[in-house]
Amino acid sequence: MEQIRIVGGQRLTGTIPISGAKNAALPLMIASLLTRETLTLHNVPRLADVNLLARILGNHGVDLTVAGKRPGQRGSEGQTFKLTAAEIVDTTAPYEMVSRMRAGFWVLAPLVARCGRAKVSLPGGCAIGTRPVDLLIHTLEQLGAEIELDGGYVIARAPRGLTGNKVTLSKVSVGATHTALMAAVLAKGESLIENAAREPEVGDLANCLVRMGARIEGIGTPTLWVQGREALYGADHTVLPDRIETGTYAMAAAITGGDVLLDGARPDLLQEALQTLRSTGIEIEERPGGIRVAQNGGSLQAVSVETQPFPGFPTDLQAQLMALMCTAQGTSQLRETIFENRFMHVQELARLGAKIELRGDTAFVTGVSGLRGAQVMATDLRASVSLVIAGLAAQGETTIGRVYHLDRGFERIEHKLGRCGAQIERISG
Ligand code: EPZ
Repeated sequence: MEQIRIVGGQRLTGTIPISGAKNAALPLMIASLLTRETLTLHNVPRLADVNLLARILGNHGVDLTVAGKRPGQRGSEGQTFKLTAAEIVDTTAPYEMVSRMRAGFWVLAPLVARCGRAKVSLPGGCAIGTRPVDLLIHTLEQLGAEIELDGGYVIARAPRGLTGNKVTLSKVSVGATHTALMAAVLAKGESLIENAAREPEVGDLANCLVRMGARIEGIGTPTLWVQGREALYGADHTVLPDRIETGTYAMAAAITGGDVLLDGARPDLLQEALQTLRSTGIEIEERPGGIRVAQNGGSLQAVSVETQPFPGFPTDLQAQLMALMCTAQGTSQLRETIFENRFMHVQELARLGAKIELRGDTAFVTGVSGLRGAQVMATDLRASVSLVIAGLAAQGETTIGRVYHLDRGFERIEHKLGRCGAQIERISG
């Protein structure tokens, strides 16, 4: 099994290219199921989750070609995928595939919208809470699908097609909003999606659907209006930059007292998160085409943060912020309001010498003067990268096991950090 080995204490300087967003690329790839024509996606990141989803889509009949490198193209640029679902050959998404990735479940909406039926295994994904799918199912019911649960599968039927309707989400959910959008674009008539998630990745999907011929208004707001169409068409779309990768590398640079340019990052996608980082004392400068992050001397200050749906502080950066706060001055309070079990990194950070007390949904992190390297274990995607951040600052050697979690969401992490001076390598252990 592979491990990541880090010798901490090196200051990060240089440029880190930001990849396309995993959480945008996945629903965008799934949107290819909505049309017979070719959907071309640029800036697709090289990630294990992308590869797994490609296999899931292939099982439904999606033909995927990956365009070759063009003259002058840098290795750090994303891939171009051409996805064509000329014919849906299978409307079942099996347990073996969907149980390994929650986003795989999202094929349910386009399959039932286009084919009138779908059978999809209940999902898996990071173990960060119970992660139900009730909102997604209810959304499809409101749009006219009949739903049955059988043997761990959700079976959706709409033999005469879906029908537009008002869909009110009782809780802000990214997956339920993706589901509502992908179902409503092929439903008969108008739909109104209320309390929609405003995450940039939802906007990216909606913009791509518009390029495919959908009529959607209110993109970026909590109320989306959709006029259903009989068919959607091929389109060309570029995946937006990964805001979670951006925030992660900003914190990695800061904890080492570094100075790094995050090339291709978009500050408007981070909002509250950048404000939070500024309030710890990190210097953040918006540059044309990127963000410069610097922490030159002085210690970071503790912060109090609560995770919230966009534009609030993202749950997907909570673990990384906790790692950063381990060496800050004072006690930080980090409250997790989105997922109930997203603190698995606490015990691993403690192995590096962090002082963290958990009380219910809040972690109290008291900064220590230094962390010490240790052997630790990745437990989920964002938790694992928090250990990388802590390892970069820790004295001595840190080895992180179960790195397949990291490979699900961070493209060539050891390469990107290594080029900025980190002593980091992948070893087989
Ligand atoms: C997406 O998950 C992301 N995944 C997550 O990123 C991210 O943490 C999350 O949104 C919140 O931003 C992808 O985009 C692939 P939700 P999703 O539905 O859609 C509850 C990462 O590390 N809920 O917005 O699954 C749910 O339990 C991952 O990249 C219901 O109660 O999240 C949670 O408390 C991890 N019933 C809240 O809503 C439902 O049917 C928000 O979840 C669905 C959700």
